[in-house]
Amino acid sequence: MLPNEALPGGKSDASPAGPARLSVDPLTFTENFDRRAFYVEHQLEHHPLLQLPAIAALSERLPKDLLEWNSEQPGAFTQPGSLKPHHLSCAETIRNVAEQPARILLLHLEQDPEYKRLMDELLDGIEPLCERVRPGMRQRQAFLFISSREAFTPFHFDPDYNFLLQVRGQKTIYMWDPENRFVLPAAAIDNYYAGVVPGDPRYANRDQRYRDEFMASAWKLPMKPGQGVHFPLHAPHAVKTESDVSISLSITFHTRRSQFDAVVHGANGHVRRLGINPPAPGSSRLWDAAANVGLRGARKTAALAERIGRRAR
Ligand SMILES: [Fe+2]
Repeated sequence: MLPNEALPGGKSDASPAGPARLSVDPLTFTENFDRRAFYVEHQLEHHPLLQLPAIAALSERLPKDLLEWNSEQPGAFTQPGSLKPHHLSCAETIRNVAEQPARILLLHLEQDPEYKRLMDELLDGIEPLCERVRPGMRQRQAFLFISSREAFTPFHFDPDYNFLLQVRGQKTIYMWDPENRFVLPAAAIDNYYAGVVPGDPRYANRDQRYRDEFMASAWKLPMKPGQGVHFPLHAPHAVKTESDVSISLSITFHTRRSQFDAVVHGANGHVRRLGINPPAPGSSRLWDAAANVGLRGARKTAALAERIGRRAR
């Protein structure tokens, strides 16, 4: 679809003083949020919390189950729990990332008061814009990605709205339209929410089937420091690091609607096991409401979905 130069972009009007802010044109936000990728701008390149020594120190404060670090071996992304421990600690791996190939993920920075403050500053700035199109921002979370040249994050989707902010180095994001069911079937999303997956359900969103022909419809989005990109909910993507060291901050959230739809996806995943093709969230009010009121037994809901599904078809 759109090449990167045709994507809506951020507008630089941020002040270096005061709270950290994303800079984005309100019209661009309103027209594209949760539909298409668009660029934002920020001034986080020299933020003290986003330099390698501070990030290494953070990794020593966070609980160990919120850290993933490895040297890019097979399965590092899709089955992180099955890898042998890295020979260096997470903090050492971060400090040495310029010299030794590595990919590091720090999860749930919001558990650390300083990083929570930074996340809140950034999200407070866009919450009024978000309120116009997807009201009820909630479940704010933040993540840090540190990687070395050639690090590659395979094709996958994430269960939240995301702004990925490039702090250091360069990356290229390959992203697909969130509604593209050729590259990401509805069943993949439903099964993830239902936990009906082979392997560890925590990482089921990461383990998605990729075919070379998908690339023809990818949005190619190069990112450099000072830029950020919006990821619509469930928009599939893959990411390649293009510089010796890359630092990216991800700020994510849910809304009233995404939380509501998550329950519907989960219900859909369960009824799919019975051979029923359920209506997608948002296409049947009756089914959406039934899924959210509560699943009182798989048979009852399956029968309802089948009736509604027949009508919808
Ligand atoms: Fe992702």
